[in-house]
Amino acid sequence: MIVVVGSINLDMITTVGRLPGPGETVRGTGFATAPGGKGANQALAAARAGAAVRMIGAVGKDSFAAEALALLRQGGVNLSGVREAQSATGTAAILVDEAGENMIALAPGANDSVLPGDLSRAAPKKGDVVLLQQEIPLATVQAALDAAAAAGAMTVLNTAPFFAETAGHLGKADFAVANETEFDLYCEALALAGDDRAARMRAYARKTGRAIVVTLGGDGVLAATPDEMLSVPALKIVPVDTVGAGDTFCGYFAAGLGAGLPLREALERAAAAASLACLKPGAQPAIPLATEVAAALK
Ligand code: RIB
Repeated sequence: MIVVVGSINLDMITTVGRLPGPGETVRGTGFATAPGGKGANQALAAARAGAAVRMIGAVGKDSFAAEALALLRQGGVNLSGVREAQSATGTAAILVDEAGENMIALAPGANDSVLPGDLSRAAPKKGDVVLLQQEIPLATVQAALDAAAAAGAMTVLNTAPFFAETAGHLGKADFAVANETEFDLYCEALALAGDDRAARMRAYARKTGRAIVVTLGGDGVLAATPDEMLSVPALKIVPVDTVGAGDTFCGYFAAGLGAGLPLREALERAAAAASLACLKPGAQPAIPLATEVAAALK
């Protein structure tokens, strides 16, 4: 079982020719809404990878909630741990430009009401993988890392969005997954030394005794464990929309670990899934099925 404790949003996506600068207005070329939120996206990715998934989170008692949960329901994610909160369903205002690059502003709403007490509805067991991000209160993320460790469950922590104050608890996760920007910022916070990123990743693995995975967009993925350094390529694609690609990686990666795949294979499958997720607009609508990922890897 993959247990995801995380955010659920409704994404408001406007496509633009180019992203605006501060104080600038640009004309949009299209608009759509789609289910999103890093937690929900990762839960759906793990389910599409073939895992049994349980989601712990919160939505508002409003008209956005049903749409925010629609694809998770369709995907067979167990939503018994998703609560209705007094505040509004989380939303993300997303701009996507012609090159598939994006800007996101988040209104957390109900996600801020996911508290350590909610973990009683998660009850991870040995053999489970607990998958976390940082779009819910950080105290809940820390409590979930502790609860998972106490239960003997494996933990994967996606370090998005970046918060310097979480540097101290990164090493509690069996696998921390960061993008290159996040990892570079954590290197400063953790005073990790080394001539290049790979050396600093090795320093992280030595210091914490845990693994770090750094996603590099079109350049693939690097992973450092206390014992080995792995490099996995991305698929050669022309991106349409990169929103949710990192979430697709994390969900597939957690599902691969949960299924007992060797680390390299779990990384390869996740990297291919993340590449495919860049070929369609929207976060959740773009997450590929396991059969599509298998076909792309052949
Ligand atoms: O990682 C992409 C996600 O970030 C979007 O779906 C949006 O909801 C924000 O949480």
